Amino acid sequence: MELIDVLLLIFAFFFLRFWWRRWSTTGSGPKNLPPGPPGWPIVGNLFQVILQRRHFIYVVRDLREKYGPIFTMQMGQRTLVIVTSADLIHEALIQRGPLFASRPADSPIRLIFSMGKCAINSAVYGPLWRSLRRNFVSEMISPLRIKQCAWIRKWAVEAHMKRIQMEAHENGFVEVMSNCRLTICSILICLCFGAKITEMRIKTIESILKDVMIITLPKLPDFLPILTPLFRREVREARKLRKSQVELIAPLIRSRKAYVQSNGRINENSEMVSAIGAAYVDSLFELDVPGRGKLGEEELVTLVSEVISAGTDTSATALEWALLHLVMDQAIQDRLYKEIVDCVGENGVVSETDVEKMPYLGAVVKETFRRHPPSHFVLSHAATAETELGGYTIPADASVEFYTAWLTEDPSMWEDPNEFRPERFLTGDGVDVDVTGTKGVRMMPFGIGRRICPAWTLGTLHINLLLAKMVQAFRWVPAPNYPPDPTETFAFTVVMKNPLKAMILPR
Ligand code: HEM
Repeated sequence: MELIDVLLLIFAFFFLRFWWRRWSTTGSGPKNLPPGPPGWPIVGNLFQVILQRRHFIYVVRDLREKYGPIFTMQMGQRTLVIVTSADLIHEALIQRGPLFASRPADSPIRLIFSMGKCAINSAVYGPLWRSLRRNFVSEMISPLRIKQCAWIRKWAVEAHMKRIQMEAHENGFVEVMSNCRLTICSILICLCFGAKITEMRIKTIESILKDVMIITLPKLPDFLPILTPLFRREVREARKLRKSQVELIAPLIRSRKAYVQSNGRINENSEMVSAIGAAYVDSLFELDVPGRGKLGEEELVTLVSEVISAGTDTSATALEWALLHLVMDQAIQDRLYKEIVDCVGENGVVSETDVEKMPYLGAVVKETFRRHPPSHFVLSHAATAETELGGYTIPADASVEFYTAWLTEDPSMWEDPNEFRPERFLTGDGVDVDVTGTKGVRMMPFGIGRRICPAWTLGTLHINLLLAKMVQAFRWVPAPNYPPDPTETFAFTVVMKNPLKAMILPR
């Protein structure tokens, strides 16, 4: 071997060593990132995850065992810091809440739908987010507004009861998820636009928003932007879908605007039913947001769509899981029925104030959220500036992922965590649980801290009301040929692999 070959070999060795150290995450290292699995040059752990051909959640579970409560995954050019312990989650989101309250950069496709992060859920922590969230809280979910809009829920729940009865008559069973989705979606549409629209139109909106969720799921270029040119077709499809979304939702916005501006005189198809000022979109017409001024029609489409999407699947999933347990365990259903009858009678009307007086109902719903959190992570967070957590550096451009499902599976925090036992919230290990996480974190189905779900009380009200009404009117039993199956699968929320089909028997 000649000298030049030796020199080349030495050079190649040092180059590879530098490359490896730069691109593989091997623990503290020079950047002091949390530990994590060594990755491959450039792509980090990305293809290691893809090649495992199983859901990301299972990869995370295994890595948690190996690397502990905080670890790093280098997914292409994106650094993911995964946080899994109650103490670190509390430290990040409550004790140092503002620091971890931002959101990471979005992919080009997500930016199309969020109009450049002009949505509460995707806005970075700052004046735009504050303004949008403050408006949402005061205009859509203030106690006064919730009371004012109680008639919408009454109307939608009545339609729901008729629909499930008809479906049971025709098919012999009720498909729980699709019915709950449709009902909750119709409530949210009416809260947003003040409009009662046909079931057909509600279904079309529901379906297009589902397509939006699918198309905005992470794809390869989110991790390796260099591949973006190869995904031009997907970007074109996303633009087409966005156009359909706007064409579907903008007419409702225009009708509402005409109604508001004409002081109620113009009311196309007599759809507009809420008082002027009572619909969420009314508040957006005049809103002046920092950095953007008055919002355009497309931004309004984004803002109402996020509300409908955020509130539909989450609540419908919880209802389906709750009913699965009531079907599988008739003793729990009997106890719940007894509480409802004791409160309002066999045929009494269950009102929104009544459900607040039903502790066992509250316990069933909490246990559903504990045992089946709608998602295993909250939305991705980001630090507003480089900081540290658990003794490690958290770069400002990293996605910080809080793996919250682990909290409710942890046997050191919950007795028999796999059991569905609502009583634990009345007299057992769940009595003192605070879902807002202020005093400590044991379950957090709505997130905690600055980014906590702003509408968690409204979502819970939808669930309580529908569950109480359904159990008051019918005994829910397994449908022959469709045994209830608690096997999970991952969609936008954690849903049943085989959606629940149940038989209903009039009480
Ligand atoms: C009961 C069912 C619900 C569950 C389980 C739920 C759960 C969540 C979770 C986990 C987050 C993310 C928190 C984080 O990033 O740390 C969130 C955010 C959000 N949710 Fe909900 N949610 C529910 C109902 C609703 C409803 C009914 C609405 C609207 C009417 C809504 C609107 C939002 C919005 C706008 C955000 C973004 C908040 C922000 O980034 O500041 N959610 N929700």
